[in-house]
Formats: sequence, structure tokens, C-alpha cells
Amino acid sequence: MKSLKRTLALLLSLMLILTGSLSSSAAFDDFSLTKEEWQAVYDKSITDNTLPMLCVGANETELNICWHADKQTAVPQVLLSKNADMSDAVSFTGDLTPAENEEQLVCRVTLTGIDENTVYYYKWYTDSGWSDAYKYESNSFDSFKMLLIGDIQIGGQSYDNTEEQARVGYVWQSVLSEALTKNPDISFLLSPGDNTSTGEAADEWQTLLMPGYVRSLPMALAIGNHDKKGMMYDYYTHMPNEFFGEYFEGLDRDFWFRYGDVLYLVFDACSGSAADHRAMAEEAIALNGDAKWRVGVMHQGLYAPGIAMLEPETNILLNAVFQPIFEMYDLDIVFTGHTHMQGRSNFISDSVVVGMAESGKTYTDPCGIIYLNTNACCDQGNAGYLFPYTAYAFENADITTYSTVEFTETKMSVKTFRGDNSELLDSISIEKTKGFSDNKVSVFFRTALYRLVELLGLIYMRIDAVVVAIRGGHF
Ligand SMILES: [Fe+2]
Repeated sequence: MKSLKRTLALLLSLMLILTGSLSSSAAFDDFSLTKEEWQAVYDKSITDNTLPMLCVGANETELNICWHADKQTAVPQVLLSKNADMSDAVSFTGDLTPAENEEQLVCRVTLTGIDENTVYYYKWYTDSGWSDAYKYESNSFDSFKMLLIGDIQIGGQSYDNTEEQARVGYVWQSVLSEALTKNPDISFLLSPGDNTSTGEAADEWQTLLMPGYVRSLPMALAIGNHDKKGMMYDYYTHMPNEFFGEYFEGLDRDFWFRYGDVLYLVFDACSGSAADHRAMAEEAIALNGDAKWRVGVMHQGLYAPGIAMLEPETNILLNAVFQPIFEMYDLDIVFTGHTHMQGRSNFISDSVVVGMAESGKTYTDPCGIIYLNTNACCDQGNAGYLFPYTAYAFENADITTYSTVEFTETKMSVKTFRGDNSELLDSISIEKTKGFSDNKVSVFFRTALYRLVELLGLIYMRIDAVVVAIRGGHF
């Protein structure tokens, strides 16, 4: 009996060791840092601008990557292997495109043939030869979980302030650490924009790319008004299916990608070119008729908690430009940011609340769209229940948050957590038993009506160009 107990105890210990080793080989290695450690990393690498950005690909079997390299030695090449020693690596070659300076080029490579539930290692060609090998682990493609963090806004509200840059960078590093430790099954990160403060400083992107976690975390970053103050987004990101439209100018662009059953439409809400936004949505939807979920992403917070909806730009202009597109194409949810206030709307259709969306509940085939507004890394606002469309508002300023969105074939589960201790703040699930309405008559009439918005959008763009020139950039 005693030896049986001893054997069982031994088996149990072995199981614990095994479980421990399994969790330590999770998708994300532990890159958590103390404030002092982060500062040391920041001080060491802030003068450089060559950290790579891993981006989502056009679909779940692809990954995009880009980095800056010396013009004399730049090679847009990445090695990808299923082995940590990089044996049997496959080589991918991409393009060299101009950088924002004369000395460098931007290397852009797309990795294809990514399998689900597979551990990969990759290296890219740096100014001093091959980089170290970094791990990327794919999860299931059919059902997956994504991470949502908004207004990373490296640099906060400041201009050329390294202290503030390092501080916001540490918040970004910490919330990633918290979110990915508690959710090691995250497949990628999506942000509704304002990735940087001034949009024109390379060191803002270098800081955003400093956390070790982002080597293993593909990102899809929308453009926010702060990014729009400069052109750096163009040189430091490599988003899939970028859509430059007919009327977009400068940095303006939308993009879309597909992940499993989900189609993501990412809008540059700082451009009033309604015609281009609608054209992007139309094209993406036509190419993804089999997607089961449609997600919209834009920076400014339509139906966000707080007073954002009292701003004419959000309430009139952006509502007129985007809300009809979301209705026309029957989107399931829209992710926004900008207000730095965490909150979520009730079900909204054509600007009217058509149903309550209570926290903790599951709704089957609801009418209307939910708008989820993200908090920020740089500073956090105190959200309130000012409007009837607000279903949830996080009323604790100074604490950042993150959300996870999990998709299965029939269910979408959205959860929002405190960024410091992962306490669950808000959750809602939607079950889907029907396809999209895609009512051709309704789409026809809505498209015809929308022509007026497209025309007004073009007029607005001309006025906005003058305002931006006088103001010296977007707000
Ligand atoms: Fe913003």
C-alpha cells in the first residue's frame, strides 16, 4: 500500500513538473520587466530604429514583417523553421522600399504557408547579419482568441519627450505582459489606432516595438489622428491588403484581413473619403463571402462613453460616413478608441438603440451592432453612463484595460479586463445561427443614398486639408 502511495505521489509530481514545463513553453516567452529593467532596455535601444514589426497577414496562413536596414547592406529576407536550431528553414524574400531617411531602406517580407497549432522560429537579416531566432506559435484557425488594446500612443500627449515615451512604453510592456500571461492562447493584437503621439518620430515606433512580446505577437494597427500628424506609420508597418482608394491622400489608407471565419475591415477614420471607405468594404466583402463574422475597426469612438458623441466631428461627420457602411454590410461589432475611456454600447442600428446588451449575457442573433471602445496606454479617462446607448463604462481612471475577443463558428465572446490584475470588468457573447442579411434591395438603396455622403465627404476633405494645414496637423 505504502509503495502504491509512493508511486502515486511520484506520478503526481511528474505530472506537476510536466504541466509546469508545458506552461513555460507557452506561446509567449516571459518577457516581463521591472520598471528599472525596462528603462535599461529603453536607454540601450532608443537611438536605434531597426526593431522589426510582426504584422498580421492577409489571412491566418500568412504573416507580414518589416524592418529598417542600412541602404548599403539591406536584404529583405526572413528564415522560418519549425526547429529552434533553425534546421530545415524555409527562406522568404520580399521587397525593399524607401525609408523616411536617405541612409536606410525598409525591408518588407510576407511569410506564407503558416500551419495552425504549430511552433515556428524566425530570423530576419539585420545590419549585422542574421538576427537571433524568435518564436511564433500559431493557434487553431477555426476558433481563436484575439487581443484588443487601444491608443498605445507611445509618447502620450507630448512631443519629443523621452521620459514620457519610456513611461508609456512601460505601461504598454506591462499590459502586454499581464494580458499574454493570462491569455497565452492569443493569436494576434488589434488596435483601433493612435499608436504613436506625434506620428513623425522614429523613436516612437522603436519604443512600441521594444517589448519582447511583440516578436511573437502579430499586430494589426489602425491609423489614429495622432499617427496622422506625420508619415511614420507608412515606414514602420506592413499591413495586409492596404487600400489606397481613389481619393485618399498622403497617409490615408484602409486595410482588411481575414482570420479564420472572421473578416476585419480596418478604416482610417481620419479620412473623410466616404467613397473610398465604402469601396474598401465592398471589395473585402465580395472577396470573403464565406466569412461568418464581420468586424469593423476605426479610431474615433462612435457611441463611446463620455462626451465624444457631443463632438460634431464624431457625432455628425464620422457617424454619417461610417455608420451607414456598418449597417449596409451588416457588421457584428465595431472596435473604436480615441476617447481613452473603456466602454461598450448597447445594440445600435441606424443610430438608434434597438436592444439592451447587458454585461454577462449571451444574445442570439441580435439586431444591431455593438461598439466596443478601448481605453489607452498613455492615459486613461473616467468613463460615465451619459447616454442611453452606453451599456458598460469603466469608471476607474488611471487604470488601463485590455479586451479579448474569442470567435468560434457560432459564438463571439468579448471580455474586458483590468490591465494590471486581469479582473474581469465586462463581458458579452453573441451566438449566431443565421448568415448575414445582405439584403440586395436594401444595399442598393443604401448605396444610392450614400452617394450624397460620398460627395459631402469629398467637400469635407478639401475643407479638412485647409484646417489641418492651418492647425499644423490632425488633432
Ligand atoms: Fe485619438
